[in-house]
Amino acid sequence: MNETPGDSRMELSREDLTRLKVDAIVNAANPSLLGGGGVDGAIHRAAGPGLLAECRSLNGCPTGEARLTSGHRLAARHIIHTVGPVWRGGGQGEAELLASCYRHCFRLHQEAGLASIAFPAISTGAYGYPREAAARIAIEQTTLALGLYPGLRRVIFVCFNEPTWLAYHDQLAGAVAR
Ligand code: AR6
Repeated sequence: MNETPGDSRMELSREDLTRLKVDAIVNAANPSLLGGGGVDGAIHRAAGPGLLAECRSLNGCPTGEARLTSGHRLAARHIIHTVGPVWRGGGQGEAELLASCYRHCFRLHQEAGLASIAFPAISTGAYGYPREAAARIAIEQTTLALGLYPGLRRVIFVCFNEPTWLAYHDQLAGAVAR
């Protein structure tokens, strides 16, 4: 049973993002695309050295954009690497940049003809973005994408910790009430 409020194509999950068998998982990367800590480190460890080799050939990615690679050793077929904004108080275009990450991910996903996608809470770890505000943007952009792309069948938000799960749950319930 899907206990997530709202559109049944959106789900919350506490599973390990790196183990999900979906068409694409999203990586919360940095502009080098050469790995790091948090979910980025976990993805690179699980995908193996072939991922780093493929990422080197991409020559980085600006904040707010995204790049597609193979999933290498992951169960997911592809990885979409996006670079979220570092939170600097909210007056430096952070909200627009974070929304842009989601838009770019969905666009690449659809251009590749994919149906399912799983996201971490981009920017809310090392980059310090407030999780409630970030969850709101994630859900707003996903709702727009579900309207725009008929091929988009399943969007999973992986919540690594309880506060993140609550932030998404509250935003989804609020979106139903609005
Ligand atoms: N598996 C799943 N989710 C995780 C994991 C994990 N192993 N570790 C953290 N999270 P973050 P950012 C959650 O810091 O804020 C990297 O070094 C975490 O709790 O991974 O976008 C990159 O190279 C949070 O909810 O990404 C960049 O330099 C979410 O994943 C920088 O961190 C995102 O946290 C990007 O920072």
